[in-house]
Amino acid sequence: MVVLLAGGVVAAQDIPTTRVRDCTTSGCHAPIVDHPIMHGPTAIGACDACHEYDDPAQHTFVVKRQGAELCTFCHLGADTQLSLVGHKPFDEGRCTGCHDPHGSTSRNMLKAATTAQLCALCHEGAIQGTHVHTPAAAGDCLGCHGAHGAEHEKLLSRTGNDLCLTCHQDTKQLLATAELPHKPATENCLNCHAAHASDNLAHLTSPPEALCESCHPGPPQIARAAKFKHDAVLEGKACLNCHQPHASNHEGMLKSDPVGACLVCHDKPITLDDGKVVGSVADIAKKGEFLHGPVRQGLCTGCHELHGSDHSRLLAAEYTPNFYEPFSLEYYALCFKCHAQELVLNRETTAETNFRNGGLNLHYAHVNQDKQGRSCRSCHATHASVNELHIVEKVPYGKWELPLNFKRTDTGGSCNPGCHRPATYDRVNATIGIEGSDQEETPAPPPAATDPTDEPAPSGG
Ligand code: HEC
Ligand code: HEC
Ligand code: HEC
Ligand code: HEC
Ligand code: HEC
Ligand code: HEC
Ligand code: HEC
Ligand code: HEC
Ligand code: HEC
Ligand code: HEC
Ligand code: HEC
Ligand code: HEC
Ligand code: HEC
Repeated sequence: MVVLLAGGVVAAQDIPTTRVRDCTTSGCHAPIVDHPIMHGPTAIGACDACHEYDDPAQHTFVVKRQGAELCTFCHLGADTQLSLVGHKPFDEGRCTGCHDPHGSTSRNMLKAATTAQLCALCHEGAIQGTHVHTPAAAGDCLGCHGAHGAEHEKLLSRTGNDLCLTCHQDTKQLLATAELPHKPATENCLNCHAAHASDNLAHLTSPPEALCESCHPGPPQIARAAKFKHDAVLEGKACLNCHQPHASNHEGMLKSDPVGACLVCHDKPITLDDGKVVGSVADIAKKGEFLHGPVRQGLCTGCHELHGSDHSRLLAAEYTPNFYEPFSLEYYALCFKCHAQELVLNRETTAETNFRNGGLNLHYAHVNQDKQGRSCRSCHATHASVNELHIVEKVPYGKWELPLNFKRTDTGGSCNPGCHRPATYDRVNATIGIEGSDQEETPAPPPAATDPTDEPAPSGG
């Protein structure tokens, strides 16, 4: 390569026509040695370490050695050795693609002011998106990549999760100690995150719902197809409203125990756009409450299909929302998933239920009626109650609530509701006076909701 060393400040008529020894005197090529960061040989005027005359009369020069040799003539260190995975311009000896042989404004005489700007000379658009990974935003490309080459594909200094976990010690700790690490996270962080940037939170490769769906198509499909939907599943942070992405100590990769995960939203009533109110279930976390078996075990899924359901209130099976219901097992399918249906089937029994007066089955008497069968909710709270056996404090009747005043004894119990006069049952010594609901008094009309066929308000708990 023959170069006319026109330093920019030298007028054509001033170009020397004989050999000169010092190229930077009297203003000639002064800019070559005027850089904040200077290359060693250039700084001491050893121009001839790299340049030699081609034709002194024409003042033309050739570069002494070509390609990498120009540099490796002096630089013999490890930095200039080939790596397992090489960076193409380095391997091709295009050292001056990145380094200015004379000097520049940055360390190592890079051809741009910062590393990131240097990389952008050839990799424009490597970092694109509204959510940029902090080290990439800070221009610390070399935090992950080798400039000349590296041990691993894509010029990476470490492979797979090792790369990410050197900086992300918290995540490392979590994956090592959590009871249930999420498989894709232990496999490869890049299953979900872009290394540099994306348009999604936490620079995820796609928005949360689509991301989870790519491996778990079931739940979002259920969510979209379900007759009764749970907005939390597809909206906002979607799956992340309830699930952890990396690891969890709770079954089903839940964010916390189910009670905690649900109460984030359900510790207060939620009013929907159409005016419907979803009641608070804060009582499931109250001290001193008797919690229904599955609630106590944190098994909200025993009764609810959280991703979406074909039964109202996201129930796993039918459970009538009404106070009165002509008897059919279908209306109570939910309860009889876990409890023996025999408790309401036979008028006479000595074993199928404790709610009996002598041999008369009082579950049968109340529930198993053609017209005005009373649903379980008239006596039992669903999630929690201050009474044992989840007996409600008040009977929800229309918009009115009748105190039940239930008292339990060793062999029976009593109540004093608004539905009928005080009544006592005893399994050993049958009491007289409540010979089954046929003789039972009809409830006094409630003051607020006068129509007894009014749908009563749900018990809300
Ligand atoms: C380490 C090798 C090296 C040293 C030392 C060196 N140069 Fe260069 N110089 C080059 C190379 C290589 C080029 C070709 C331009 C390129 O590829 O970037 C060049 C180009 C030039 C040019 C023409 C283009 C420009 O940048 O203006 C001038 C003038 C020049 N050198 C002057 C000098 C002077 C004067 C010195 C000593 C003070 C010097 N060089 C020291 C390697 C060197
Ligand atoms: C004539 C010998 C010589 C040649 C040829 C040479 N260098 Fe250097 N280089 C030096 C010396 C001397 C230093 C200063 C070392 C110091 O200060 O410790 C240096 C420093 C550097 C540095 C700064 C980092 C460091 O190690 O201190 C870089 C980067 C560098 N040279 C790149 C190049 C490149 C690229 C080429 C080829 C275009 C090249 N050098 C050619 C002698 C040379
Ligand atoms: C793609 C751009 C690029 C190319 C091509 C390149 N380098 Fe570098 N080089 C860099 C960057 C960036 C650094 C600074 C690395 C750092 O800070 O860790 C560097 C650092 C160096 C250093 C100093 C290392 C140190 O210990 O500080 C030397 C010497 C060097 N390069 C020589 C070369 C030689 C010789 C070639 C050609 C064979 C070359 N470079 C090609 C980008 C490049
Ligand atoms: C002078 C141009 C140039 C500069 C400057 C440059 N690169 Fe490159 N880089 C290349 C070329 C050419 C390739 C090979 C591309 C290919 O094979 O498709 C490459 C490949 C890569 C690859 C590997 C891509 C793959 O698919 O394996 C990475 C990573 C990379 N560069 C990172 C960087 C970083 C980080 C910087 C800044 C420190 C940088 N590059 C600066 C030219 C450059
Ligand atoms: C946190 C580590 C990290 C940082 C910081 C980082 N990268 Fe990367 N980069 C990666 C990983 C990991 C890949 C491989 C991505 C993959 O395989 O999907 C990659 C790939 C690349 C590629 C290859 C492109 C491709 O799509 O294959 C280029 C070019 C690149 N990075 C440039 C840069 C530049 C420029 C910077 C600084 C602005 C930078 N990187 C900062 C981790 C990083
Ligand atoms: C060089 C150190 C470094 C490496 C390597 C690194 N990160 Fe980061 N990362 C950071 C820093 C610093 C932050 C910002 C931390 C903060 O804001 O608390 C961050 C933040 C993040 C965030 C949070 C983004 C947000 O918006 O909340 C994610 C996700 C992330 N990194 C993923 C990765 C992945 C995946 C890898 C491996 C490809 C990786 N990181 C490798 C330093 C690193
Ligand atoms: C299954 C997908 C997935 C995988 C795999 C994954 N992440 Fe994440 N990561 C996420 C999601 C989703 C978020 C956002 C969480 C949020 O905002 O609620 C996140 C957030 C983060 C954050 C921000 C702080 C935090 O903990 O919430 C960091 C840091 C992070 N991830 C690092 C990593 C690292 C390191 C790996 C690999 C060991 C990894 N991630 C693997 C999905 C994933
Ligand atoms: C790259 C694929 C992949 C992505 C993306 C992914 N997962 Fe997973 N997930 C898995 C694998 C594999 C398992 C382990 C399944 C097994 O062990 O049977 C798993 C397990 C789970 C489990 C536990 C399943 C169980 O039966 O207990 C839940 C919950 C879960 N993932 C939720 C999510 C959520 C939420 C997201 C989005 C943030 C997500 N996953 C993203 C692959 C993925
Ligand atoms: C309202 C809370 C909630 C939301 C939002 C939610 N889930 Fe779930 N998910 C659960 C519960 C609770 C379980 C059952 C956990 C258990 O095993 O006890 C579960 C179980 C799972 C399981 C494992 C068993 C199964 O049913 O397949 C996967 C996979 C899963 N969810 C993925 C997702 C995905 C993907 C999304 C987003 C589209 C999502 N979840 C949204 C609460 C939720
Ligand atoms: C991010 C907030 C959020 C979280 C977390 C959440 N939900 Fe919901 N949930 C709602 C909203 C809003 C509704 C109102 C119905 C809808 O989605 O349109 C609802 C409705 C329901 C319903 C139906 C009520 C009705 O009368 O139709 C049930 C049951 C329910 N959620 C149970 C749960 C359980 C169990 C959990 C925990 C596993 C949970 N939710 C977690 C927001 C949430
Ligand atoms: C034994 C079955 C059962 C279990 C277990 C259960 N639920 Fe329910 N849940 C219901 C029924 C039935 C309803 C409808 C209201 C009613 O009839 O009491 C309901 C309604 C709800 C509602 C809506 C409240 C309203 O007033 O509309 C929320 C929120 C809810 N449940 C959350 C939970 C949470 C959180 C858990 C787990 C801690 C859970 N449920 C466990 C049966 C159950
Ligand atoms: C997912 C299973 C499951 C479903 C569905 C279910 N229960 Fe339960 N129920 C239990 C468990 C477990 C206990 C606790 C038994 C124990 O502590 O020995 C219990 C206890 C009870 C008790 C107290 C009796 C006792 O022996 O402690 C009553 C009353 C009750 N349930 C009524 C209902 C009603 C009404 C429904 C329908 C709305 C229903 N259950 C649905 C599992 C369920
Ligand atoms: C009229 C009030 C009333 C109605 C309606 C009612 N129960 Fe009960 N239930 C009770 C009383 C009182 C007890 C406690 C009996 C005892 O131990 O003294 C009881 C006990 C139970 C028990 C504990 C086991 C047993 O039979 O002793 C279960 C389970 C149960 N009920 C489920 C149901 C289901 C399911 C329904 C609806 C199909 C229902 N109950 C309807 C009042 C009622």
